Amino acid sequence: MVEAESISSTAEIRIPHDPLLQIIGQDEAVRIGRMISGQRRHLLLVGPPGTGKSMLAQAIASILPKPKQEVLILHNPERPERPIVEVRNAISKKGAKGPLVEVLDPTSVPAFVSEKLGFRCRRCARLSNPDASSCFFCGADKYKRVRGPFDDLLMGPPGMEREERVHTTRMRDGKEELIVFERRGDKIAILTQKDLMKLSEMREKAQYKVILSFNRTTFVQATGASETELLGDVRHDPYGSHPQIGSLPYTRVVPGAVHEAHEGVLFVDELSSLGRLQRFLLTAMQEKKYPITGRNQSSTGSSVRVDGVPSDFILVAAVNFNDVQGILAPLRSRILGNGYELLMNTHMPDNEANRLKLIQFLAQEIVRDGRIPHADAGAIAEIIRFAQIKAKEIDGQSGLTLRLRLLSGTIKMAGDVAASAERKLITAEDVKFAILNSKPIEEQATEKYGSMYKASQSDFGFKREKGGTEIG
Ligand SMILES: Nc1ncnc2c1ncn2[C@@H]1O[C@H](COP(=O)(O)OP(=O)(O)O)[C@@H](O)[C@H]1O
Ligand SMILES: [Mg+2]
Repeated sequence: MVEAESISSTAEIRIPHDPLLQIIGQDEAVRIGRMISGQRRHLLLVGPPGTGKSMLAQAIASILPKPKQEVLILHNPERPERPIVEVRNAISKKGAKGPLVEVLDPTSVPAFVSEKLGFRCRRCARLSNPDASSCFFCGADKYKRVRGPFDDLLMGPPGMEREERVHTTRMRDGKEELIVFERRGDKIAILTQKDLMKLSEMREKAQYKVILSFNRTTFVQATGASETELLGDVRHDPYGSHPQIGSLPYTRVVPGAVHEAHEGVLFVDELSSLGRLQRFLLTAMQEKKYPITGRNQSSTGSSVRVDGVPSDFILVAAVNFNDVQGILAPLRSRILGNGYELLMNTHMPDNEANRLKLIQFLAQEIVRDGRIPHADAGAIAEIIRFAQIKAKEIDGQSGLTLRLRLLSGTIKMAGDVAASAERKLITAEDVKFAILNSKPIEEQATEKYGSMYKASQSDFGFKREKGGTEIG
């Protein structure tokens, strides 16, 4: 193993490609994260800020397979305010368009049909590929009429187009019925009147809106979401009832986060702050689908409703330890029943392996930032010392802190200092400077004014005399 001490700069560190391996000090979380992405379970992460909860949620989303379904909202001609949802699978996309109909070989249809559709040669009567304009066997032009003595008198071009459809009649159960032969590649379909009606219905249905496309992201955030952001909406149309200038309801359907996260991860930070919306979230999780309706009672959208819009997501939720109580009990038991609850680590033992991980973390932060130089051995040692101090200070533990947002801010500030001084590497001095200057406001205020109370008084811009009269 490489020793932490022997590393001369973070530039030497190889950063793993796997986003889960970039998460340090949370081995259990990473193990479970990998598992839930395969098994599609839910996950509740509990722990203080800056320990990698958001990072883990994103990493889980990034290792999920690409969405296999596309979701469309179709116009419903009979009831426009009840648009229809359609889920298309990536594989079946090309197939079944139009009603299922009888499909025949060109040999099984009347000769005049196969002729008009471009299969049968008018001269030698043999069948060949309809896409080729001349007969494969005798070379005759399949689309040219055999010229008769009166052809010159006919209007229009002497040649004849290959037809895609031939209308005719046939006898069925003693009745004559209208049918249409239609070219379908190297086969011929027979369409009855009923099929034709279905087909035109489907044409009407072709008024649709794709609300979830195949190439959507698998990571969707619903932190502090409003009801409409979480569950979707149907937008208001001021001309809603006007047949000419109003827009059809299906065009106004907007998916919510629960839908956008279909097949992906729905990340809810500060879960308890969703309040009563947690109940809806639970329903969406259980049903794996959730209706979209206009949520503003005074809007024209409120009369519109689309049922059964898919919402099959992996829930990854995060809370601080103190907010666990604010999670809706049935939602929590749902997560437990079909997933995991996990407490994040706040620190890790100070040993050789973990120091190396901390250095890997530094390298990651520097590379991801892109605007700061790498850190030299002195800077690395200084950060490790800072991580020890913070573990003691915040958690009362000996070890290395895993409140890494703190360290991330420190290394970036140190990097800015190094960059502005045009240094090739971040040094120990830069890190020391950053540690001194990256204190939270509370700490700065106490230093400047002696206490938080005095600091808050400073807002008035003058010192109020004891017993002095207030103006105003
Ligand atoms: N365990 C970790 N491993 C690597 N980097 C981390 C870790 N925890 C936090 N970080 C760094 O700190 C930043 C903030 O972490 P984040 O995931 O947003 O924390 P949380 O969601 O727990 O508040 C991350 O973008 C990452 O740069
Ligand atoms: Mg976060």
